[in-house]
Amino acid sequence: MPEPQPTHDVVVLGGGSGGYACALRGAQLGLQVALVEQDKLGGTCLHRGCIPTKALLHAAEVADTAREGARFGVRSHVEGIDMGQVLAYQQGVVARLHKGLQGLVSSAKVDYVIGSGVLVGPRSVQVGDRVLTGRHLVLATGSQARTLPGLSIEGRVMTSDQALTLTEVPQNVIVLGGGVIGVEFASVFRSFGSQVTVVEALPRLVPGEDEAISKTLERAFRKRSITVRTGARYAAVSQDEHSVTLTLEDGATLGADLLLVAVGRGPVTADLGYEAAGITLDRGFVPTDERLRTGVDGVYAVGDIVPGLQLAHRGFAHGVFVAEDIAGLQPQPVLDRGIPKVTYCDPEIASVGLTETQARAEYGDVSVYEYNLGGNGKSQILGTAGFVKLVAAPQSAGGAVVGVHMIGARMGEQIGEAQLIVGWDARADDVAPFIHAHPTQNEALGEAHLALAGKPLHAHA
Ligand code: NAI
Repeated sequence: MPEPQPTHDVVVLGGGSGGYACALRGAQLGLQVALVEQDKLGGTCLHRGCIPTKALLHAAEVADTAREGARFGVRSHVEGIDMGQVLAYQQGVVARLHKGLQGLVSSAKVDYVIGSGVLVGPRSVQVGDRVLTGRHLVLATGSQARTLPGLSIEGRVMTSDQALTLTEVPQNVIVLGGGVIGVEFASVFRSFGSQVTVVEALPRLVPGEDEAISKTLERAFRKRSITVRTGARYAAVSQDEHSVTLTLEDGATLGADLLLVAVGRGPVTADLGYEAAGITLDRGFVPTDERLRTGVDGVYAVGDIVPGLQLAHRGFAHGVFVAEDIAGLQPQPVLDRGIPKVTYCDPEIASVGLTETQARAEYGDVSVYEYNLGGNGKSQILGTAGFVKLVAAPQSAGGAVVGVHMIGARMGEQIGEAQLIVGWDARADDVAPFIHAHPTQNEALGEAHLALAGKPLHAHA
C-alpha cells in the first residue's frame, strides 16, 4: 500500500520506558517526533512495575526494620500494616514521577498523541481519525503479565497488576513462579506478615541468576519462613469465595487466600497491524538485528517486545540508541550481556555479566572467587548475610572479570561499580589498587578483587 507523505521524522508507538526515551532523545537531536500512548505516559515501569513495586518493597523493609528493632537494642514492634496508607505512599511516588515525566515530554516539544494506535502502513499509525506517518517508525508497545493455559486471572487469582492495589494483607499467599516478580512479591508479603509459598517449575528460584545466588536466596527465604517448592509444576486451580486451591502435577494441593501468577511477561503485539505491515513476529516478539531494525525498512523495535531481558533500563537504552541511530550518530549497539540486573527481594540480588555456568560454557576454564559478607564490617552492622562472587575469564583469554554476582541487603547499590568492571573488561589486578571506603559494603567488591588478584586482606588466601 502506498505510504502517505511523512508527518514526522519519527513516530513512536508506545510511551513506556523505551518509547518515551526514544522520543525525548529524538527531540533533543532536533527530530520531529510524535509519541503515541493510549494509557498513561511512563508505561509498565512507572505505573505497574518497577516504581510501585519498589515502593512496596521499601514499605516491607520499614516493617522488617521495626520488627527487628529489639535485636539492635531499639524497642519497636509492628502494630499492623495499613494498606490504605501503603498505597497512598506508593501512589504519591508514582504521581510525582508521572507529573515530572509529562513536564519533560511537553517541554521537549514532542507531539504527544493520546489514543490507541494501529499500523495502517509500514510507517503509518492511525490514532482515531489522525494518521501519523514517520520517515521512521519505532515500535515500543511493551509487555503484559502472562498466564498459563486454563488459568484465568480473576477473583483470588491475580497477576502483579492486581496485587499492586491490594487493600488488605492476605493471610496466606501462593506465588506461582519463582522468577523476579515472584520473589519480590513473596518478599513483600512475608514482610507484611503473610504466610507465603513459592512454587517454581524449575529446580531453583531465580533461574536466570548464578546457581550460588539461587542457593543463598532459598536458604534466606527458608530462614524467613517462606516455603519454597522448586521443581513443582502447576496442574490446576480452583477457587470459591473463601479460598483458592492450587493443584500441582504431582497431585499435591495447596490452599491460600490469594494466588499470585508470576510466570513471565509476554509481548504486546497482537491486533496492532504489525503483521499486515510486513513485520515478522516470533511467538509474539519482534525479532530485530543488533541495530534494533525489524525486517521492514525504517521500522525499529525497542524494549520488552524485542526478545531478551525485559528491563526498563534496557528499554531506555534501546530508545536512546534508536533516536541516535536515526539522527546519524552511529551509536554502539546495546548488548544484553552488559546490562545490570537487580532483584529487590530481601536479601537483594545484583548481577552483571556471565554466570559461572555461562562462562564455563564460553571459556572452558574460569577463575571464581566468592567473598562472604561475613567478613565485611558494614554488612555485619546491618546484620545481613550473603556474598560477592566474581567470575573471570582464564589468563589465556585475557583474564577479565566477566561476571559479578552479589546477594545481601542493599547489594543493588554495588551494581554500578560491578558494571564498570565487567563493561571495561577489567582484570582483578586492575581493580585491586582502587581503594574502597571503609566501612562500606562496597569494600566487599574491592576485597573480592584483591583476593582474586592473589592479595586478600580480610579473607583467607
Ligand atoms: P520470569 O521469567 O523472571 O520468571 C517466571 C518464572 O515462572 C520462571 O522461573 C519460570 O520457570 C516459572 N514458571 C513458568 N511456568 C511455570 C509453571 N507452570 N509452574 C511453576 N512455575 C512456572 O518472569 P517474571 O518474574 O514474571 O518477570 C517478568 C519480567 O519482568 C522478567 O523479565 C523480569 O526481569 C522483569 N522484572 C524485573 C524486575 C527487576 O528488574 N527488579 C522486577 C520485576 C520484573
